[in-house]
Amino acid sequence: MKYGIFSDVHGNHVALKAVLDFYRKNGVENFVCCGDIVGYGPQPLECAETLRGLKNLVTVMGNHDAAMIGKMELKWFNANAAWAIDFARTQLTGQAMDYIAGLPERAETEHFTAVHGSPRKPLTEYLLSEGQFLDNTKNWSVSPCFIGHSHMPLYFREGEAGVPETDFLKPAVKVFVTGKNMFNPGSVGQPRDGDTRASCGIYDSDKKYFELYRVFYDVGAVQKMMAALKMPAILAERLSFGF
Ligand SMILES: [Fe+2]
Ligand SMILES: [Fe+2]
Repeated sequence: MKYGIFSDVHGNHVALKAVLDFYRKNGVENFVCCGDIVGYGPQPLECAETLRGLKNLVTVMGNHDAAMIGKMELKWFNANAAWAIDFARTQLTGQAMDYIAGLPERAETEHFTAVHGSPRKPLTEYLLSEGQFLDNTKNWSVSPCFIGHSHMPLYFREGEAGVPETDFLKPAVKVFVTGKNMFNPGSVGQPRDGDTRASCGIYDSDKKYFELYRVFYDVGAVQKMMAALKMPAILAERLSFGF
């Protein structure tokens, strides 16, 4: 079965639509979202409603989602991020808010595990090193584990003799699952690896590989919406650079 794996949509509905269109064109009908549906972007309601209506979707909660519903304090966020979380609170309807509030911090199926940050600290850990990957080993069982939060398209896996390996995921390069693996598909709505295109992946649970893709979307259209809403300028500007 093919799964569309994506994360960190962050209120960027134009990018989310482009990614879902990409999946549709490639016959992908099952999905995993690793959290941070809201925050940073201009259309948090549209993103929540699109995902609420998407069939065959497994979603977990991100730290921005948790802050929006009052599960995390805003003091953990910088001023611009906090602004966007407050903005999202004004946008979401009761139903959309209930949807976000009902998301689990961890999901596990026969084919995969999914969390936002890491298995041991689902809402807060930025998993970026082999050491962190090893330290998390006992906190999850079904491989692969899909993660988000850092906005970096990375994989981690148990290598030869227990020496862990990590590297950036490159577009259209298959990475096969061997032992315990983690995959971060990067960010749909606010890429931070210098590539402005939306980042997402496909996982084939029969052939056991993960493949990254980058999808063009209309960055300028999103920036215009953000300017009209008088959102902090840096949140719009960074989309032009992918940082
Ligand atoms: Fe995020
Ligand atoms: Fe996050």
